[in-house]
Amino acid sequence: MKQRTLAILKPDCVRKNLIGKVVKKMEEAGFKIVGMKMVKLDSNTAGEFYAVHKERPFFYDLVSFMSSAPCVPIVLEKENAIEDFRKLIGATDPAQAEDGTIRKLYADSKEQNIVHGSDAPETAEYEIKYFFSSKELVENYG
Ligand code: CDP
Ligand code: MG
Repeated sequence: MKQRTLAILKPDCVRKNLIGKVVKKMEEAGFKIVGMKMVKLDSNTAGEFYAVHKERPFFYDLVSFMSSAPCVPIVLEKENAIEDFRKLIGATDPAQAEDGTIRKLYADSKEQNIVHGSDAPETAEYEIKYFFSSKELVENYG
């Protein structure tokens, strides 16, 4: 069954002019883009999105980073999208990520790692709604 996941091209991706390259990897891996926009998060919004990490030592730096430049949230659709996209992006720390993954190819550090991907069906649903209304998502390509 088709599934949707939320990707975010993070500020480092935008700053390094890698939007096109990362989107190309998504398309080549068989994901359909069903929603896409550019947003500049403020620190409240970034903190709310990553609220699950609010007790972690890296939270403050994560919020500063995510609000430091624009981001590009993208809704991707494919069979098994959530798990397959996590595989395509690779481990949180690019040094641990498999060859050919987006983070291995393009990320500089585990803090600034180019891309977000939802980790489960419940988080995907919440995260997609966090950035997109139903009117902003394509139902079929025709
Ligand atoms: O993004 P992913 O699901 O792979 O990792 P996470 O454990 O959910 O952490 C969310 C984000 O916090 C990461 O993608 C990093 O940007 C950041 N992070 C960090 O700055 N330092 C860490 N030790 C772990 C995560
Ligand atoms: Mg995560």
